[in-house]
Amino acid sequence: MHSARGWSIFRGADGRLNVLVSYCRHMGGDLSQGEVKGDEIACPFHDWRWGGDGRCKQVPYSFRVPKLARTATWTTLEQDGMLSVWNDPERKPPSPEVTIPRIEGAGSDEWTDWHWYTTLVNTNCREIIDNVVDMAHFFYVHGSMPTHFKIIFEGHIATQYMNSGGRADIPNPEGQPPMLGTTSIASYFGPSFMIDDLTYHFEHEDQKTVLLNCHYPIDANSFVLQYGIIVKKSEHLPEEAAMQTAIALGDWVKVGFEQDVAIWKTKARIDNPLLCEEDGRVYQLRRWYEQFYVDVADVTPDMVDRLRVRDRRRASAGSMAEGSRGKRRRARGPELAGRMSVRTDNRLLDSPLVPVNCRRCGAEVRARKSTWQQTSVQWDAEATATCAQLREAEELKQHGRGLFLVCSELRDSIEDAARRGRLPILDEVDDEMPS
Ligand code: FES
Ligand SMILES: [Fe+2]
Repeated sequence: MHSARGWSIFRGADGRLNVLVSYCRHMGGDLSQGEVKGDEIACPFHDWRWGGDGRCKQVPYSFRVPKLARTATWTTLEQDGMLSVWNDPERKPPSPEVTIPRIEGAGSDEWTDWHWYTTLVNTNCREIIDNVVDMAHFFYVHGSMPTHFKIIFEGHIATQYMNSGGRADIPNPEGQPPMLGTTSIASYFGPSFMIDDLTYHFEHEDQKTVLLNCHYPIDANSFVLQYGIIVKKSEHLPEEAAMQTAIALGDWVKVGFEQDVAIWKTKARIDNPLLCEEDGRVYQLRRWYEQFYVDVADVTPDMVDRLRVRDRRRASAGSMAEGSRGKRRRARGPELAGRMSVRTDNRLLDSPLVPVNCRRCGAEVRARKSTWQQTSVQWDAEATATCAQLREAEELKQHGRGLFLVCSELRDSIEDAARRGRLPILDEVDDEMPS
Protein backbone atom coordinates (compact mmCIF):
# COMPACT_ATOMS: atom_id res chain seq x y z
CA MET A 1 0.00 0.00 0.00
CA HIS A 2 1.35 3.37 -0.92
CA SER A 3 0.05 6.90 -1.27
CA ALA A 4 1.22 9.39 -3.87
CA ARG A 5 -0.30 12.58 -5.25
CA GLY A 6 -3.89 11.68 -4.40
CA TRP A 7 -3.49 8.05 -5.45
CA SER A 8 -3.69 4.83 -3.51
CA ILE A 9 -1.41 2.21 -4.90
CA PHE A 10 -1.94 -1.33 -3.69
CA ARG A 11 -0.90 -4.82 -4.67
CA GLY A 12 -3.74 -7.33 -4.40
CA ALA A 13 -3.40 -11.02 -3.52
CA ASP A 14 -3.41 -11.71 -7.27
CA GLY A 15 -0.07 -9.85 -7.47
CA ARG A 16 -1.39 -6.99 -9.57
CA LEU A 17 -0.48 -3.41 -8.76
CA ASN A 18 -3.49 -1.11 -8.85
CA VAL A 19 -3.79 2.66 -8.75
CA LEU A 20 -7.04 4.23 -7.47
CA VAL A 21 -7.99 7.74 -6.58
CA SER A 22 -7.15 8.10 -2.93
CA TYR A 23 -10.41 9.24 -1.36
CA CYS A 24 -13.29 6.82 -0.94
CA ARG A 25 -16.45 7.55 -2.97
CA HIS A 26 -18.60 6.68 0.07
CA MET A 27 -17.71 9.43 2.52
CA GLY A 28 -14.18 10.38 1.64
CA GLY A 29 -12.04 8.00 3.69
CA ASP A 30 -8.39 7.87 2.65
CA LEU A 31 -7.94 4.53 0.91
CA SER A 32 -4.17 4.77 1.17
CA GLN A 33 -4.64 4.35 4.93
CA GLY A 34 -6.75 1.24 4.39
CA GLU A 35 -5.86 -2.41 4.33
CA VAL A 36 -5.48 -4.82 1.46
CA LYS A 37 -8.03 -7.63 1.84
CA GLY A 38 -7.66 -10.25 -0.89
CA ASP A 39 -7.65 -8.49 -4.25
CA GLU A 40 -9.34 -5.42 -2.83
CA ILE A 41 -8.50 -2.38 -0.79
CA ALA A 42 -10.67 -1.85 2.28
CA CYS A 43 -11.47 1.72 3.30
CA PRO A 44 -10.43 2.49 6.90
CA PHE A 45 -13.67 4.42 7.52
CA HIS A 46 -16.54 1.89 6.88
CA ASP A 47 -14.66 -1.00 5.28
CA TRP A 48 -16.08 -0.65 1.77
CA ARG A 49 -14.04 -2.88 -0.54
CA TRP A 50 -12.71 -1.47 -3.80
CA GLY A 51 -11.28 -3.59 -6.62
CA GLY A 52 -8.40 -2.63 -8.90
CA ASP A 53 -10.95 -2.04 -11.68
CA GLY A 54 -12.46 0.80 -9.61
CA ARG A 55 -15.69 -1.02 -8.74
CA CYS A 56 -16.94 -1.38 -5.20
CA LYS A 57 -17.08 -5.17 -4.66
CA GLN A 58 -18.63 -5.32 -1.23
CA VAL A 59 -20.15 -3.22 1.52
CA PRO A 60 -19.73 -5.52 4.53
CA TYR A 61 -22.75 -4.20 6.44
CA SER A 62 -25.14 -4.04 3.45
CA PHE A 63 -26.76 -6.69 1.26
CA ARG A 64 -26.30 -4.65 -1.87
CA VAL A 65 -23.55 -2.58 -3.34
CA PRO A 66 -24.87 0.69 -4.82
CA LYS A 67 -25.00 0.39 -8.61
CA LEU A 68 -22.95 3.50 -9.27
CA ALA A 69 -20.25 2.69 -6.76
CA ARG A 70 -17.24 3.19 -9.00
CA THR A 71 -14.10 5.19 -8.50
CA ALA A 72 -11.34 6.46 -10.79
CA THR A 73 -8.46 4.14 -11.65
CA TRP A 74 -5.36 4.49 -13.76
CA THR A 75 -3.88 1.99 -16.21
CA THR A 76 -0.65 0.57 -14.83
CA LEU A 77 2.36 -1.19 -16.30
CA GLU A 78 4.78 -3.00 -14.04
CA GLN A 79 7.93 -3.72 -15.94
CA ASP A 80 11.69 -3.83 -15.41
CA GLY A 81 11.42 -2.95 -11.73
CA MET A 82 9.22 0.11 -12.27
CA LEU A 83 5.56 0.95 -12.02
CA SER A 84 4.31 3.25 -14.78
CA VAL A 85 0.92 4.91 -14.66
CA TRP A 86 -0.92 6.10 -17.75
CA ASN A 87 -2.44 9.52 -17.08
CA ASP A 88 -4.67 10.67 -19.92
CA PRO A 89 -6.86 13.73 -19.26
CA GLU A 90 -9.21 12.40 -21.95
CA ARG A 91 -9.45 9.15 -19.95
CA LYS A 92 -8.67 7.00 -22.99
CA PRO A 93 -6.57 3.83 -22.72
CA PRO A 94 -3.04 3.93 -24.14
CA SER A 95 -2.57 2.70 -27.69
CA PRO A 96 -0.15 -0.24 -28.02
CA GLU A 97 2.54 1.85 -29.76
CA VAL A 98 3.08 4.08 -26.73
CA THR A 99 3.94 1.13 -24.48
CA ILE A 100 7.32 1.71 -22.83
CA PRO A 101 9.89 -0.67 -24.35
CA ARG A 102 11.64 -3.31 -22.26
CA ILE A 103 15.06 -2.44 -20.91
CA GLU A 104 17.61 -5.07 -21.76
CA GLY A 105 19.53 -5.84 -18.61
CA ALA A 106 16.94 -4.72 -16.07
CA GLY A 107 16.19 -7.64 -13.78
CA SER A 108 18.92 -9.76 -15.35
CA ASP A 109 21.67 -11.44 -13.30
CA GLU A 110 24.26 -9.88 -15.57
CA TRP A 111 23.29 -6.41 -14.43
CA THR A 112 22.97 -4.72 -11.05
CA ASP A 113 19.71 -3.72 -9.44
CA TRP A 114 18.48 -0.16 -9.88
CA HIS A 115 20.03 2.56 -7.79
CA TRP A 116 17.50 5.40 -7.55
CA TYR A 117 17.46 9.12 -6.81
CA THR A 118 14.44 11.36 -6.25
CA THR A 119 14.49 15.12 -5.97
CA LEU A 120 12.03 17.99 -6.06
CA VAL A 121 12.90 20.67 -8.62
CA ASN A 122 11.31 24.09 -8.38
CA THR A 123 10.87 25.03 -12.00
CA ASN A 124 8.68 24.17 -14.97
CA CYS A 125 9.52 20.70 -16.28
CA ARG A 126 10.01 22.02 -19.82
CA GLU A 127 13.49 23.08 -18.71
CA ILE A 128 14.64 19.48 -18.45
CA ILE A 129 13.16 18.66 -21.87
CA ASP A 130 15.13 21.52 -23.48
CA ASN A 131 18.29 19.58 -22.55
CA VAL A 132 17.53 17.15 -25.38
CA VAL A 133 18.65 19.59 -28.07
CA ASP A 134 20.88 21.88 -26.04
CA MET A 135 24.30 20.66 -27.10
CA ALA A 136 26.22 23.75 -25.98
CA HIS A 137 25.17 23.49 -22.33
CA PHE A 138 26.85 20.09 -22.04
CA PHE A 139 30.13 21.93 -22.53
CA TYR A 140 29.48 24.99 -20.42
CA VAL A 141 27.39 23.51 -17.61
CA HIS A 142 28.54 19.90 -17.44
CA GLY A 143 32.15 20.27 -18.55
CA SER A 144 31.96 17.63 -21.27
CA MET A 145 32.89 17.90 -24.92
CA PRO A 146 30.20 16.67 -27.33
CA THR A 147 31.86 15.16 -30.42
CA HIS A 148 28.77 13.80 -32.14
CA PHE A 149 25.24 15.08 -31.70
CA LYS A 150 22.09 14.14 -33.54
CA ILE A 151 18.41 14.35 -32.73
CA ILE A 152 15.50 12.44 -34.21
CA PHE A 153 11.89 13.25 -33.48
CA GLU A 154 9.25 10.78 -34.55
CA GLY A 155 5.78 10.34 -33.15
CA HIS A 156 5.94 10.44 -29.37
CA ILE A 157 9.68 9.63 -29.28
CA ALA A 158 12.59 12.08 -29.25
CA THR A 159 16.05 10.55 -29.41
CA GLN A 160 19.35 12.24 -28.73
CA TYR A 161 22.52 10.55 -29.98
CA MET A 162 25.55 12.03 -28.29
CA ASN A 163 29.17 11.01 -28.01
CA SER A 164 31.33 13.12 -25.80
CA GLY A 165 34.83 13.31 -24.45
CA GLY A 166 36.30 15.05 -21.47
CA ARG A 167 37.41 18.64 -21.57
CA ALA A 168 41.19 18.96 -21.63
CA ASP A 169 41.00 21.94 -19.28
CA ILE A 170 39.05 20.05 -16.61
CA PRO A 171 41.06 17.49 -14.62
CA ASN A 172 39.65 14.05 -13.85
CA PRO A 173 38.08 13.91 -10.36
CA GLU A 174 40.62 12.73 -7.81
CA GLY A 175 40.67 9.03 -7.02
CA GLN A 176 38.60 8.09 -10.09
CA PRO A 177 39.93 6.17 -13.08
CA PRO A 178 40.53 8.45 -16.09
CA MET A 179 37.36 8.58 -18.18
CA LEU A 180 37.84 9.04 -21.91
CA GLY A 181 34.26 9.85 -22.75
CA THR A 182 30.73 8.54 -23.14
CA THR A 183 28.44 7.19 -25.85
CA SER A 184 24.80 7.87 -25.22
CA ILE A 185 21.55 7.06 -27.00
CA ALA A 186 18.79 8.66 -24.97
CA SER A 187 15.12 8.46 -25.96
CA TYR A 188 12.16 10.17 -24.40
CA PHE A 189 9.16 7.89 -24.79
CA GLY A 190 6.50 10.52 -24.31
CA PRO A 191 6.96 13.74 -22.36
CA SER A 192 8.68 12.48 -19.25
CA PHE A 193 10.23 9.03 -19.47
CA MET A 194 13.73 8.69 -20.90
CA ILE A 195 15.82 5.57 -21.32
CA ASP A 196 19.49 6.31 -21.89
CA ASP A 197 21.82 3.56 -23.11
CA LEU A 198 24.94 5.11 -21.69
CA THR A 199 28.42 3.66 -22.03
CA TYR A 200 31.34 5.15 -20.13
CA HIS A 201 34.71 4.69 -21.83
CA PHE A 202 37.55 4.20 -19.37
CA GLU A 203 41.17 3.58 -20.27
CA HIS A 204 40.98 -0.05 -19.19
CA GLU A 205 37.47 -0.93 -20.41
CA ASP A 206 34.02 0.26 -21.39
CA GLN A 207 31.31 0.32 -18.78
CA LYS A 208 27.78 -0.26 -20.02
CA THR A 209 24.98 1.34 -18.03
CA VAL A 210 21.34 2.24 -18.48
CA LEU A 211 20.23 5.55 -17.05
CA LEU A 212 16.53 6.01 -16.48
CA ASN A 213 15.51 9.65 -16.29
CA CYS A 214 11.88 10.48 -15.60
CA HIS A 215 9.77 13.11 -13.91
CA TYR A 216 6.22 14.14 -13.14
CA PRO A 217 4.97 17.70 -12.81
CA ILE A 218 3.41 18.88 -9.57
CA ASP A 219 2.36 22.26 -10.91
CA ALA A 220 3.62 24.82 -13.42
CA ASN A 221 6.59 25.66 -11.21
CA SER A 222 7.72 22.35 -9.79
CA PHE A 223 8.28 18.75 -10.70
CA VAL A 224 9.65 15.59 -9.14
CA LEU A 225 12.73 14.25 -10.89
CA GLN A 226 13.55 10.57 -10.54
CA TYR A 227 16.53 8.84 -12.05
CA GLY A 228 18.06 5.46 -11.62
CA ILE A 229 20.98 3.52 -12.97
CA ILE A 230 21.89 -0.12 -13.62
CA VAL A 231 25.39 -1.27 -14.49
CA LYS A 232 26.49 -4.32 -16.43
CA LYS A 233 28.61 -6.71 -14.40
CA SER A 234 31.79 -8.21 -15.83
CA GLU A 235 34.73 -10.40 -14.89
CA HIS A 236 36.46 -7.32 -13.48
CA LEU A 237 33.28 -6.03 -11.97
CA PRO A 238 31.44 -8.78 -10.08
CA GLU A 239 28.40 -8.32 -7.85
CA GLU A 240 29.36 -5.90 -5.09
CA ALA A 241 31.90 -3.97 -7.16
CA ALA A 242 29.29 -3.47 -9.88
CA MET A 243 26.79 -2.10 -7.36
CA GLN A 244 29.45 0.25 -5.99
CA THR A 245 30.10 1.42 -9.56
CA ALA A 246 26.36 1.99 -10.08
CA ILE A 247 26.31 4.17 -6.96
CA ALA A 248 29.46 6.05 -8.00
CA LEU A 249 28.18 6.67 -11.53
CA GLY A 250 24.71 7.54 -10.20
CA ASP A 251 26.32 10.10 -7.90
CA TRP A 252 28.17 11.45 -10.94
CA VAL A 253 24.86 11.83 -12.80
CA LYS A 254 23.48 13.53 -9.68
CA VAL A 255 26.24 16.12 -9.86
CA GLY A 256 25.18 16.75 -13.47
CA PHE A 257 21.53 17.26 -12.54
CA GLU A 258 22.56 19.55 -9.70
CA GLN A 259 24.47 21.64 -12.23
CA ASP A 260 21.28 21.93 -14.29
CA VAL A 261 19.20 22.74 -11.23
CA ALA A 262 21.59 25.53 -10.27
CA ILE A 263 20.93 27.14 -13.67
CA TRP A 264 17.16 26.56 -13.52
CA LYS A 265 16.95 28.10 -10.07
CA THR A 266 17.66 31.59 -11.33
CA LYS A 267 16.97 31.50 -15.07
CA ALA A 268 13.87 32.99 -16.68
CA ARG A 269 11.34 30.90 -18.53
CA ILE A 270 11.76 31.82 -22.18
CA ASP A 271 9.10 30.85 -24.71
CA ASN A 272 10.78 32.48 -27.69
CA PRO A 273 14.54 32.08 -27.25
CA LEU A 274 16.85 34.09 -29.45
CA LEU A 275 19.03 31.40 -31.00
CA CYS A 276 22.22 31.38 -33.02
CA GLU A 277 23.03 29.03 -35.89
CA GLU A 278 24.96 26.66 -33.68
CA ASP A 279 22.17 26.20 -31.16
CA GLY A 280 20.07 23.09 -31.08
CA ARG A 281 16.62 22.93 -32.52
CA VAL A 282 14.77 24.27 -29.51
CA TYR A 283 11.69 25.30 -31.50
CA GLN A 284 11.39 21.91 -33.21
CA LEU A 285 11.74 20.23 -29.83
CA ARG A 286 9.02 22.36 -28.33
CA ARG A 287 6.70 21.65 -31.23
CA TRP A 288 7.27 17.93 -30.61
CA TYR A 289 6.63 18.51 -26.88
CA GLU A 290 3.43 20.41 -27.64
CA GLN A 291 1.68 17.16 -28.70
CA PHE A 292 1.47 16.18 -25.02
CA TYR A 293 -0.31 19.40 -24.04
CA VAL A 294 -3.12 19.41 -26.61
CA ASP A 295 -6.13 17.16 -27.12
CA VAL A 296 -5.31 14.13 -29.25
CA ALA A 297 -7.64 15.49 -31.96
CA ASP A 298 -5.52 18.66 -32.12
CA VAL A 299 -2.15 16.95 -32.63
CA THR A 300 -0.84 18.20 -35.97
CA PRO A 301 1.60 16.45 -38.32
CA ASP A 302 4.40 18.94 -37.57
CA MET A 303 4.37 17.73 -33.94
CA VAL A 304 4.79 14.06 -34.78
CA ASP A 305 6.31 13.80 -38.27
CA ARG A 306 9.74 12.26 -38.46
CA LEU A 307 12.44 14.90 -38.27
CA ARG A 308 16.10 14.20 -38.14
CA VAL A 309 18.50 17.00 -37.36
CA ARG A 310 21.96 16.11 -38.50
CA ASP A 311 25.08 16.76 -36.54
CA ARG A 312 26.66 19.26 -38.93
CA ARG A 313 26.76 21.72 -36.04
CA ARG A 314 28.45 19.24 -33.76
CA ALA A 315 30.86 20.58 -31.25
CA SER A 316 34.61 20.38 -31.29
CA ALA A 317 37.26 21.63 -28.94
CA GLY A 318 38.01 24.33 -31.49
CA SER A 319 34.44 25.56 -31.81
CA MET A 320 33.45 25.77 -28.18
CA ALA A 321 36.72 26.74 -26.62
CA GLU A 322 37.66 29.30 -29.28
CA GLY A 323 34.46 29.92 -31.19
CA SER A 324 36.46 29.44 -34.37
CA ARG A 325 33.93 28.46 -36.98
CA GLY A 326 36.10 28.66 -40.08
CA LYS A 327 38.80 26.56 -38.51
CA ARG A 328 36.34 23.89 -37.56
CA ARG A 329 34.74 23.65 -40.97
CA ARG A 330 38.11 23.33 -42.68
CA ALA A 331 39.20 20.71 -40.18
CA ARG A 332 36.14 18.59 -40.93
CA GLY A 333 36.64 18.62 -44.71
CA PRO A 334 38.70 15.44 -45.15
CA GLU A 335 36.61 13.56 -42.62
CA LEU A 336 33.38 14.47 -44.40
CA ALA A 337 34.86 13.59 -47.78
CA GLY A 338 35.67 10.13 -46.48
CA ARG A 339 32.07 9.60 -45.42
CA MET A 340 30.46 11.08 -48.50
CA SER A 341 28.44 8.99 -50.87
CA VAL A 342 26.70 10.22 -54.00
CA ARG A 343 22.96 10.38 -54.04
CA THR A 344 20.53 12.50 -55.95
CA ASP A 345 19.42 15.36 -53.80
CA ASN A 346 16.02 16.61 -54.86
CA ARG A 347 15.24 18.48 -51.70
CA LEU A 348 15.71 21.84 -53.34
CA LEU A 349 13.27 20.99 -56.11
CA ASP A 350 10.84 19.18 -53.89
CA SER A 351 10.69 21.71 -51.08
CA PRO A 352 8.10 24.40 -51.51
CA LEU A 353 8.84 28.06 -50.97
CA VAL A 354 7.49 29.15 -47.62
CA PRO A 355 5.66 32.47 -47.14
CA VAL A 356 7.50 34.87 -44.85
CA ASN A 357 6.32 38.33 -43.86
CA CYS A 358 8.64 41.27 -43.34
CA ARG A 359 8.33 42.35 -39.74
CA ARG A 360 8.63 46.03 -40.70
CA CYS A 361 6.32 46.53 -43.67
CA GLY A 362 4.48 43.21 -43.73
CA ALA A 363 5.43 42.46 -47.35
CA GLU A 364 4.95 38.76 -47.98
CA VAL A 365 7.63 37.00 -50.00
CA ARG A 366 8.19 33.29 -50.51
CA ALA A 367 11.50 31.93 -49.28
CA ARG A 368 13.49 28.74 -49.21
CA LYS A 369 16.73 28.25 -47.30
CA SER A 370 19.09 25.58 -48.56
CA THR A 371 21.74 26.43 -45.98
CA TRP A 372 22.08 29.08 -43.28
CA GLN A 373 23.96 31.19 -45.79
CA GLN A 374 21.85 30.56 -48.91
CA THR A 375 18.35 31.86 -49.30
CA SER A 376 16.07 32.00 -52.34
CA VAL A 377 13.47 34.72 -52.21
CA GLN A 378 10.56 35.15 -54.62
CA TRP A 379 8.90 38.56 -54.82
CA ASP A 380 5.53 39.15 -56.39
CA ALA A 381 4.14 42.49 -57.51
CA GLU A 382 2.31 43.07 -54.24
CA ALA A 383 5.41 42.45 -52.11
CA THR A 384 7.47 44.69 -54.37
CA ALA A 385 4.92 47.46 -53.93
CA THR A 386 4.79 46.98 -50.15
CA CYS A 387 8.50 46.85 -49.26
CA ALA A 388 9.49 50.26 -47.96
CA GLN A 389 13.22 49.78 -48.49
CA LEU A 390 12.65 48.65 -52.06
CA ARG A 391 10.55 51.76 -52.75
CA GLU A 392 13.22 54.02 -51.27
CA ALA A 393 15.85 52.33 -53.43
CA GLU A 394 13.69 52.77 -56.52
CA GLU A 395 13.40 56.48 -55.82
CA LEU A 396 17.15 56.83 -55.35
CA LYS A 397 17.70 54.95 -58.60
CA GLN A 398 15.70 57.56 -60.45
CA HIS A 399 18.33 60.02 -59.30
CA GLY A 400 21.09 57.77 -60.57
CA ARG A 401 21.98 56.44 -57.13
CA GLY A 402 21.34 53.37 -55.02
CA LEU A 403 21.49 49.67 -55.69
CA PHE A 404 18.89 47.43 -54.02
CA LEU A 405 20.46 44.13 -52.98
CA VAL A 406 18.28 42.95 -50.14
CA CYS A 407 15.87 44.48 -47.66
CA SER A 408 17.66 44.26 -44.31
CA GLU A 409 14.39 44.03 -42.37
CA LEU A 410 13.19 41.19 -44.58
CA ARG A 411 16.50 39.39 -44.27
CA ASP A 412 16.22 39.54 -40.49
CA SER A 413 12.62 38.31 -40.68
CA ILE A 414 13.71 35.34 -42.79
CA GLU A 415 16.55 34.50 -40.40
CA ASP A 416 14.11 34.71 -37.53
CA ALA A 417 11.70 32.32 -39.26
CA ALA A 418 14.59 29.89 -39.78
CA ARG A 419 15.68 30.09 -36.14
CA ARG A 420 12.15 29.47 -34.99
CA GLY A 421 11.90 26.44 -37.24
CA ARG A 422 9.13 27.91 -39.42
CA LEU A 423 11.48 27.90 -42.40
CA PRO A 424 13.44 24.65 -42.66
CA ILE A 425 17.15 24.67 -43.47
CA LEU A 426 17.17 22.00 -46.14
CA ASP A 427 20.78 21.05 -45.56
CA GLU A 428 20.04 20.15 -41.95
CA VAL A 429 16.88 18.16 -42.24
CA ASP A 430 16.30 14.87 -43.93
CA ASP A 431 14.41 11.71 -43.31
CA GLU A 432 17.00 8.99 -43.63
CA MET A 433 17.45 6.29 -41.07
CA PRO A 434 20.10 7.13 -38.48
CA SER A 435 23.58 6.15 -39.55
S1 FES B 1 -15.71 6.49 3.59
FE1 FES B 1 -14.87 4.73 2.82
S2 FES B 1 -16.19 3.21 3.54
FE2 FES B 1 -17.08 5.02 4.21
FE1 LIG C 1 21.91 19.38 -18.43
